[in-house]
Amino acid sequence: MSNKSTHIAILGAGAIGQLIFHQLAPAKQIPYFFVRGESRDEQVLSFCALSGKKSQTIARLVNLTEDKKQCSERSGEDSVYSLAVQTRLLIVCVKAYQVKAALKNLLPQLPTSCHILLLHNGMGPHLEIAPMLSGRGLSLGTTSQGALRTESWSVKQTGEGVTQIGSLSGPSMTPDLKQLLISAIPNIEWCEPILPFLWQKLAINAAINPLTAIENCSNGALAAEKYRQQICDIVEEIVDVALATGVHLDKISLTKRVFNVIGLTRANFSSMHQDVVNQRRTEIDNINGYVVERAKEYGLTAEVNETLLKQVQQLESGYLT
Ligand code: PAF
Repeated sequence: MSNKSTHIAILGAGAIGQLIFHQLAPAKQIPYFFVRGESRDEQVLSFCALSGKKSQTIARLVNLTEDKKQCSERSGEDSVYSLAVQTRLLIVCVKAYQVKAALKNLLPQLPTSCHILLLHNGMGPHLEIAPMLSGRGLSLGTTSQGALRTESWSVKQTGEGVTQIGSLSGPSMTPDLKQLLISAIPNIEWCEPILPFLWQKLAINAAINPLTAIENCSNGALAAEKYRQQICDIVEEIVDVALATGVHLDKISLTKRVFNVIGLTRANFSSMHQDVVNQRRTEIDNINGYVVERAKEYGLTAEVNETLLKQVQQLESGYLT
């Protein structure tokens, strides 16, 4: 299968990576996945849309662990080496704590014209990978679309949501790629500068995720009066730290927005709650941990966020080896 016209790659075949794949595929821009250790070249991916409509699309899997000898034994144009150099846009959908390691070996194989888009919860990887970019353009994004992986290559869309993307550094995404994302991803917003939007999403996650994990409760339970002050304090610290980094956030409207999300998602269990219940590593280091790190860097303290960070790390230490 040769797919020369597209050259969009996805790194990370979790729920969001697969959802974005299915949203791009009808635009005839079928992306390929960079994977590790998969022995097959092609994979049928199943999708169940919000409407209940089911579809299947074939994707190419580009094996990052294949060595040069194995590649030369196959048709040269199918190898990771030849495809990687043609990649124009890499959409990175791995967890924030996996981004740096995932990009370390791949980036040197991509052309310097390849644009990188990071799409994950939390913040931090853009700082870690900055020295590795060699002038490549970098965009950041966040999505509130809901998706559930039902089998390894099967995904179900579970909720609509906004996707916000914007350029951060280096050359901007080319207009054709930008237009492609705008027409393929529903409710997409181009937000520049992007950092204030990421800080706002961070505040929502920093207030809801650790508390639901620690209290073992649904998002809606946080509407109780006993959590009100703590939630206000979490947001206030984030507003102060963001300001120190040069990003102005409005404390009153952001606090309202957090309580609004609590109400709108009251029946949901947050992703961090689910990570703890399923004994997985959480994203705490890139949520409240990011706030604490930035606070230290600017000579501030973020005690309420730090307490939550430690409490969730304590929960994780009970099951992570
Ligand atoms: O991480 C999550 O679970 C979600 O971003 C949010 C907004 C907290 C709703 O559950």
